[in-house]
Amino acid sequence: MTPRRPARLVVLVSGSGTNLQALLDACADPSYGARVVAVGADRDDIEGLARAERAGVPTFVRKVGQFTSRDHWDRAVTDTVAGFEPDLVVLAGFMKLVGAEFLTRFGGRVVNTHPALSPSFPGMRGPADALAYGVKVTGCTLFVVDAGVDTGPIVAQRAVPVEDDDTADTLHERIKVAERAMLVDTVGRMARAGWTVEGRRTRFGDEG
Ligand code: GRF
Repeated sequence: MTPRRPARLVVLVSGSGTNLQALLDACADPSYGARVVAVGADRDDIEGLARAERAGVPTFVRKVGQFTSRDHWDRAVTDTVAGFEPDLVVLAGFMKLVGAEFLTRFGGRVVNTHPALSPSFPGMRGPADALAYGVKVTGCTLFVVDAGVDTGPIVAQRAVPVEDDDTADTLHERIKVAERAMLVDTVGRMARAGWTVEGRRTRFGDEG
């Protein structure tokens, strides 16, 4: 996939939005090659939306409960995101699984960041599950979203050590530092160079 320059990013969030903020900050530099054209959420009153508003980026909220079914919600999110003509959709702490319609429309150009080293510890409790298992190294993964839970082709990973006195929260905060850097580096490279997905293998294009 070869995005336009600057690549148009739509970012979906559910929480504090520190990953979104890292992208917004990176996009302030024209040489980064991307800009955030919209931020969407599945809930109101979150810092992620406030960060977008402060940056002057359009926002939208589509709550599952506003729709008669999960499929209707998925269609509404899909149509809204499509209206912003994204080259790449970034799920940055978005706590909902996108559905079939969304993946049909944007398949191959939706990435999600997960706070564990895939394929270990998928799901909502990545840092806590890594801690409970006793691993000494965990990390974060950026992957191309498919129909599974944190299963898609891997674009980037960063390793993070587990310390003896970690709690799930301290470990997650350390992972998030690596996660923000990974997201900024990788999304920028995707925006500038394009990317391909063949089976489970992803590759960047040449930066021109
Ligand atoms: C990130 O660790 C993300 O991987 C996880 O939730 C966190 C979101 O953080 N799913 P933020 O909202 O970007 O601060």
